[in-house]
Amino acid sequence: PQTGYKLWLDYRKVKNSELLQEYRNQIQSVYIQPDTKTLEIAQKELSVGLAGLLGDKPTFLERQNIKNAIIVAKIKDLNKEYQALFESSKIEENGFQISHVKENIIVTSNDDIGVLYGVFHLLKHLQMNLPLKKLPIFDAPKIDLRILNHWDNLDRSVERGYAGNSIWKWHKLPGYIDQRYIDYARANASVGINGTVLTNVNANALILTPMYIKKVAALANVFRPYGIRVYLTARFSAPIEIGNLKTADPLNPEVRNWWKAKIDRIYKEIPDFGGFLVKANSEGQPGPQNYGRSHADGANMLADALAPHKGIVMWRAFVYSEHDATDRAKQAYNEFVPLDGKFKENVLLQVKNGAIDFQPREPFHPMFGAMPKTPLMMEFQITQEYLGFSTHLVYLPKLYEEVLQADTYQHGKGSLVAKVIDGTLDHKKISGMAGVANIGSDVNWTGHPFGQANWYGFGRLSWNPYLSAKTIANEWLRMTYSTNDEFVTPMIKMLLISRAAVVNYMTPLGLHHLMDTGHHYGPGPWVSNLSRPEWNPVYYHKADSLGIGFDRTPTGSNATAQYAKPVADTFNNLETCPEEYLLWFHHLPWDYKLKNGNILWNGLALKYQEGVGQVREMQSLWEQIKPYLSAEQYQEVAMLLSIQLKEAKWWRDACMSYFQTFSKKPFPKGMETPK
Ligand code: GCU
Repeated sequence: PQTGYKLWLDYRKVKNSELLQEYRNQIQSVYIQPDTKTLEIAQKELSVGLAGLLGDKPTFLERQNIKNAIIVAKIKDLNKEYQALFESSKIEENGFQISHVKENIIVTSNDDIGVLYGVFHLLKHLQMNLPLKKLPIFDAPKIDLRILNHWDNLDRSVERGYAGNSIWKWHKLPGYIDQRYIDYARANASVGINGTVLTNVNANALILTPMYIKKVAALANVFRPYGIRVYLTARFSAPIEIGNLKTADPLNPEVRNWWKAKIDRIYKEIPDFGGFLVKANSEGQPGPQNYGRSHADGANMLADALAPHKGIVMWRAFVYSEHDATDRAKQAYNEFVPLDGKFKENVLLQVKNGAIDFQPREPFHPMFGAMPKTPLMMEFQITQEYLGFSTHLVYLPKLYEEVLQADTYQHGKGSLVAKVIDGTLDHKKISGMAGVANIGSDVNWTGHPFGQANWYGFGRLSWNPYLSAKTIANEWLRMTYSTNDEFVTPMIKMLLISRAAVVNYMTPLGLHHLMDTGHHYGPGPWVSNLSRPEWNPVYYHKADSLGIGFDRTPTGSNATAQYAKPVADTFNNLETCPEEYLLWFHHLPWDYKLKNGNILWNGLALKYQEGVGQVREMQSLWEQIKPYLSAEQYQEVAMLLSIQLKEAKWWRDACMSYFQTFSKKPFPKGMETPK
């Protein structure tokens, strides 16, 4: 039973008859001149959207002196009398304004893409059944680059993808344009996503060969009118692999020329090509360090070749080395922070939200706020590599919000990660947020139907990193399922507890990296035989007969020293360290007293139990809203939730039974005993 292809753009007819009448009275006709591809798309969206929402196809008129209409145009194309009412300078690039003027609603912007965003916003307003009185609306993106990262391979497998094959049908490109490409672009534009990296960070160099560039150009042509630019991953050793050179040394003139020629060629085919995402000297990928050069040397070489075309480099900071066994959490900071100020202007460092790897919960990455001269992009993972694949229902905007709202204290209180990312903390010229996509060829795109909320939510936060997870949940639920409060209220509750649930039943109290090897699904805290020490879960939990946890304070790895002093002090001190990060930063005895009076062993068990209980609560909330769903919609998630419950217990039982071999303590009252 798979539905959900239309995502949040279903445009169901408004049910409330009074509201429907209000909408119909106001929207008797629409003015829009489809004289560019983007405005043509806007017109089509209005046509489809209004037909769905209001029940009738809208009437499009060719003049602006009308009444009870929607008028959609760039400011410069509005009638003089309307024009006088808008101030161009007040609307930022790609921003829009929606206002009542006379008896009309005007959707306007300085540019086409802003108009398109405005149209999507107005349609959302109607989808959410909000009164038209609530206008005017001003909005504009707060982050420049709002980018999906596809970890898609050319054979259509997707690294860490759980929603079917890659949607890119390379073998049929460039000749065949799949309808999905268009629907993908629409969905992204509707939330303001304006870039896509088509290929896996671990991809080989094949994508940079002429045959593939032609295919990429075909996709770029589809996406362009939706305001979406295409980017590619650049394998650092490409000059050797596809260029027949002996080296990929970034300071070698032949290598530099090779990249320059390659990039010039790409821009011939794709004039608005965005640039490169690079994973270098990370998990075995080649990079500048193979030649004794720094990350800055490598990034700047590509940046120089891209600069004349206004392209950018997104250089990933996800590096860790097997040669330093003390604490993987410290390595990216140690490698990159000394390079602050050494990168070219068109280089951004792309930093994962935490210092390990997309765990259910990590404290914010210490690099945020620590490189005042370098733009840092956020890298979130939307695909649920460590969070139950597309089987578990986990609403990720809650995780994103927690990270964005964290305070780095780098310029005193209020130095939020969100301000690092939108560039306001250190007045950056360019800003960005990337999300590792959870999209595939499944009918519903994301495997789990609620995975769509994570794609949607990533887009919304990349537009405005200050939005709350609750606001986003409310929007998505109303647009996707139902505007009935009796549906929406319990569902918001379900979404908001789902993140806490997964943390509790997988890795409570700051535990991390307990998953089984390779596939990363299910528990494996006992794994200790992998070739690299920092791949083994035992490296992270350090459980022994005395206690559990990773001491990252000055008595241990001293990773806390990478944070601003007030943050480091808070984490170091057991009195102030937030309980959710306790075992991330401290190794504590099994009978350590928690704030609630429980000893650590019992508290840990009860947290695991709480996670299981939260999944049960999610199930009962799902029961409650059954009347608002089709049988298929209900059944699909009901089945997934029962797997989730079973696996929550699996996590609890496996982890607690294993830890019990060290603590030698009985399970506390209140924890269901493993069977
Ligand atoms: C994780 C993931 C890899 C991925 C890597 C990365 O380690 O398991 O599949 O390549 O992150 O972000 O580069």
